[in-house]
Amino acid sequence: AAPIRVALLGCGTVGTEVVRLIEEQSKDLTARIGAPLEIVGIAVRRPDKHPDIKASLLTTDAQSLVDGDADIVVEVIGGIDPVKGLLVDALRSGKSVVSANKALLAEEGGLLHAAAAESGADLYYEAAVAGAIPILRPLRESMVGDRITRVLGIVNGTTNYILSRMDETGSSFSEALAEATDLGYAEADPTADVDGFDAAAKAAILAALAFHTPVTTDDVYREGISAVTSGDFASARDMGCTIKLLSICERVSDPDNPSEDAVSARVYPAMIPRTHPLASVGDAFNAVFVEAEAAGPLMFYGKGAGGDPTASAVLGDLVAVARNKVATTTGGGVSTYAALPIRPMGKT
Ligand code: HSE
Repeated sequence: AAPIRVALLGCGTVGTEVVRLIEEQSKDLTARIGAPLEIVGIAVRRPDKHPDIKASLLTTDAQSLVDGDADIVVEVIGGIDPVKGLLVDALRSGKSVVSANKALLAEEGGLLHAAAAESGADLYYEAAVAGAIPILRPLRESMVGDRITRVLGIVNGTTNYILSRMDETGSSFSEALAEATDLGYAEADPTADVDGFDAAAKAAILAALAFHTPVTTDDVYREGISAVTSGDFASARDMGCTIKLLSICERVSDPDNPSEDAVSARVYPAMIPRTHPLASVGDAFNAVFVEAEAAGPLMFYGKGAGGDPTASAVLGDLVAVARNKVATTTGGGVSTYAALPIRPMGKT
């Protein structure tokens, strides 16, 4: 089949890894998609900063890539403007979009989904929440036939590291924050992590998909972890609990109209019983615990940040979107099985 043409917007840590994976895994990806992926352009701010990338692919003009003849636009720039306009243009012109942009999806998810619906383009953003952990497509696709009642997420690795250290070693918040900074988890300005803004944006995205409702960051109640003390951990321990920064998305009875449901999304340091599966999520790991009427409880666990895990999520979306493109343009699909030889080996 004809190559699937991919335009990449942004080429930082995640983008560089995405380019590397597309090149290195090209044979496997072609087999899985049913057509090769071809990168047709990469928009960057400073082309001279990317000596390893073929110069003819680099451009500072992201709009020209969006207006060009790519099939899929992959966005790893981040932030609201100018990305919002670029992605709306891409979607309206029928280009499918894969984005890792948490802030944009949390604020303007409704606008982007409407633009995608207008043209029938795909819009996927698995990398925007909890890095490598597949959680958005399970909520959107695998569980769409069920009725989700609650989503509890540990979706900020930095604060989970800090709280886990406070629990395990009895250290203070500022000592644990200093360790997180030394290890490169916390940003130089850790406000977005520590004050819960990052977890609130992710809560908005989770709630929107779990409850089919356009929840935005402003709808999320938010409290950070800077006031949590070692005394709080001692009290929690006495009660058989630990403390985690939870993003809680819940279907509740509407206080204004009790016979109807409403959505509540909130982020705060919460006591959870040590027997709960989320209590054992340590270090900078993320996890999302989902409760649904028919499925019961489910838990998703893994690495929530970093270039490689995030690139894994972007590539997963890219392959899914590219497969849809192949199916709609050729009317055919591709077998989901790759061709590796099978060698029965018995017990090893
Ligand atoms: N600062 C975030 C975290 C990175 O600590 O989880 C991933 O969004």
